[in-house]
Amino acid sequence: MMKDRIIEVISNVCIASEIFEMVVSTDDFPDMVGGQFIHIALPSEAHPLRRPFCIADYDTAEKTVTIVYAVLGEGTKILSKVTAGSQLKALFPLGNGFDLDESFKTIALVGGGLGVAVLPAIPTTWPDREYHSFLGFAQASKAVLIDNLNRKSKIYIATDDGSLGEKGFVTSLLASKLNEIKPDAILCCGPEIMYKSLARELEGIDIPVFISLERRMGCGVGACLVCNCKVKTAKGDKYLRACVEGPVFPMREVIL
Ligand SMILES: Cc1cc2nc3c(=O)[nH]c(=O)nc-3n(C[C@H](O)[C@H](O)[C@H](O)COP(=O)(O)OP(=O)(O)OC[C@H]3O[C@@H](n4cnc5c(N)ncnc54)[C@H](O)[C@@H]3O)c2cc1C
Ligand code: FES
Repeated sequence: MMKDRIIEVISNVCIASEIFEMVVSTDDFPDMVGGQFIHIALPSEAHPLRRPFCIADYDTAEKTVTIVYAVLGEGTKILSKVTAGSQLKALFPLGNGFDLDESFKTIALVGGGLGVAVLPAIPTTWPDREYHSFLGFAQASKAVLIDNLNRKSKIYIATDDGSLGEKGFVTSLLASKLNEIKPDAILCCGPEIMYKSLARELEGIDIPVFISLERRMGCGVGACLVCNCKVKTAKGDKYLRACVEGPVFPMREVIL
């Protein structure tokens, strides 16, 4: 049974246009891996459903978890008003997270928009690999986590309007560097349309690709089936729960 933890908000600040970074801590700090998520209860009785966020990064010594979130609807607006020192309830770590085979020595990390929030925790979990981070944003004002990823990896940036890095899609930028970097695996998080374009760019190229799927979620622990997603198995198509069997899946198994 997953334990509901009390987390203390250490900081909660706006770091880019409509994007906040929240650092929380708990004494009873669990083990976790990159790609898992935290399900946070809002401090509002009118909003009983928790909201899921990637564990963007964590620090076992400091007992902290960092999340980076966009203010989209009422829930994230309420979260953005939470002040340092407040206490919230949260279930974490949830989901499978990534599972890096020892043979994956050079890894390309790919993030689109707030999908980049999955990436920093990966080198934190597996610091002994070589990382190249490909970050795609709509525009410079939406760019986040660059300093963090710059400390842990070589970074390449693309924006839709060219206001930061190269103009264009991050998936094309990745494709243009594949021969140079020769990654053993590609780990990716972003909107589904990005996965479709990644699949097109990688057609005929045999590199394992793992993607993190964002689904609407209810319970976050496997009970409500709201987060079902269709995957291909040897026995035919099957529905799996993104919150338990995912959110990370091999891209070739996911029906996009
Ligand atoms: C495993 C997982 C990890 C996530 N990690 C992050 C993260 O690191 N940073 C971040 O900003 N967001 C993340 N999300 C999305 C985040 O949970 C939603 O943006 C948030 O719950 C919206 O709450 P709200 O009450 O503000 O918006 P609502 O009022 O519920 O909805 C506002 C808008 O957001 C969209 N939305 C709501 N929930 C989701 C969802 N699960 N996926 C996609 N769109 C959604 C709605 O369709 C609507 O357009 C993650 C979602 C999942 C499932
Ligand atoms: S969110 Fe309830 S089963 Fe996944």
